[in-house]
Amino acid sequence: MRVLLVGGGGREHALAWKMARSPLLERLLIVPGNTGTARHGQNVPLPVQNAESLLRVAQQERIDLLVVGPDNPLADGIVDHFQAAGIAAFGPTAAAAQIESSKSFAKQLMQAVGVPTAEAHVFDDAEQAAGFASSSGRPWVVKADGLALGKGVVVADDVAGTVAAVKKLAATPAGKRLLLEERMSGPEVSVIALCDGKTLLPLPPARDYKRLLDGNQGPNTGGMGAIAPAPGVDEATLQTIVSRCMQPVVDALAARGTPFVGALFAGIMLTSDGPRVLEFNARFGDPETQVLLPLVEGDFLAALLACAEGRLQPTMLRWRKGTAVCVVLAAPGYPDSARLNAPISGVEALEENDNLMIFHAGTAITDVGMATAGGRVMGVVGVAGSAPTARQRAYDAIPQIRFEDKHFRTDIGT
Ligand code: AMP
Ligand code: GLY
Repeated sequence: MRVLLVGGGGREHALAWKMARSPLLERLLIVPGNTGTARHGQNVPLPVQNAESLLRVAQQERIDLLVVGPDNPLADGIVDHFQAAGIAAFGPTAAAAQIESSKSFAKQLMQAVGVPTAEAHVFDDAEQAAGFASSSGRPWVVKADGLALGKGVVVADDVAGTVAAVKKLAATPAGKRLLLEERMSGPEVSVIALCDGKTLLPLPPARDYKRLLDGNQGPNTGGMGAIAPAPGVDEATLQTIVSRCMQPVVDALAARGTPFVGALFAGIMLTSDGPRVLEFNARFGDPETQVLLPLVEGDFLAALLACAEGRLQPTMLRWRKGTAVCVVLAAPGYPDSARLNAPISGVEALEENDNLMIFHAGTAITDVGMATAGGRVMGVVGVAGSAPTARQRAYDAIPQIRFEDKHFRTDIGT
C-alpha cells in the first residue's frame, strides 16, 4: 500500500515509525515530515494547507491512503478533497472535524445526545460575554470557538479574570465566538479511539503533561510529556467514557450524514460525578501518540485502512502489557520564544529498540549536523512492564542527548 502522511511533528514521526512496521506498507510519503520521518519514508517539502498540491502529489505517486496528523488541514477539508478524487482517507471530513474546529458545534452536539460535559453559554459578542460574566458573579472557563493552537482556553479564577480572558480571546481570530463554561475539577485523561464512522476501537487511556514545569507549574505548552496507560483509569472507566461520551457523538454524526472517520480524541475530566468531556479533537494527540503506538500490537496500518473503508473490527489491535512514558526535550525559551539552531549530539549513538524510541519533532539536519529547529525538539520514550521502569528508561537516555540549555520536566510519569 502507498500512503501519504500529513504533518511534521513528533506525532507524525511515531505514526511513520509504526506504519513502517506493517507488511502492507509499500511506499510512505510524508508532507512535510521531519528528520525522524525521513528514516521511514520520503519527506515532501510542501505546505500542509495546500490541498491542491498534496492531491497532485498523491495522484502522481498513486497513493492508496491519506493519513492526516494535524487539525488545520482536516478543518480545511483535505479529506473531502481526496475523497472527491477517489483516494481513501484516515481522517474526518471538514463537516465531521467540526467536533474539534468549533467548540460550540461540539457542545451543541453533546447537549443534543446527552453526553456529560460542562454547562456552557455561547456568545458572538464579547461585550455580552463580559456582561454575562460580571452579572453572574462567578468565574468561568473562557474558550475561543475555533482552532487556536492550544491557546484558546483560559481557566479564570475570578470574575475580573473571566472578563480579562474574554477581552483577550475575543481579539484572536479563533475568538469571534466565545464559550463561557462551568469550571469542573478532577484528573484529566485523553481517550483516543480509531473510528470508521460507526465502530470505535479505543486505544489505552493516556495522560499528557501540558504545563512547562515540574508539578504542573508554568505556562501551557503543546505538551511536555505523556504516559499510557494513564494511572488510575481502570477498564470500567474507559468503557464508560467510550459508551457514554464517545459512541453517542459518533452515532449522531453518522445520523446527520457526516460520519466521523479517523482518530476521535476525547479530553475527559474524571469528576466526582463521573467522566465529563472537556473537548473533542478530530485527530491523534501529541504527545499521546508517542506513548500509545509503542504499545500497539497488531497491524496498525491495516486498522487505519479498515477505518477508511468502513470495516473496522474492535478486535483488530491488541496492546503490549506495560507502560510507555514520553519525556519531551524542549528548546530554551519554549513556549514563548524558543532559541533554535543549537547543535544536537548524541542521538545517533543511542541504541533504539522496542523499549526506547526517540521521536523527532523540531530537529533539522544542517551543514554542521543535527540542530534544534522547533520549540519541542524531540520526545524520548521508554517502555517497560512497569511505569517506574519505563520512566527510568526514558530518563536514563536523556543525558546522552546534548544541546545547549535543553529543558525537560523531571516528573513525567509520576
Ligand atoms: P481544552 O482545550 O478545552 O481541553 O482545554 C484545555 C485545558 O483547560 C483542559 O485540559 C483543562 O485543563 C482546562 N479546562 C477546559 N475546560 C475546563 C472546564 N470546563 N473546567 C475546568 N478546566 C477546564
Ligand atoms: N495533547 C493534546 C493534544 O494533542 O491536543
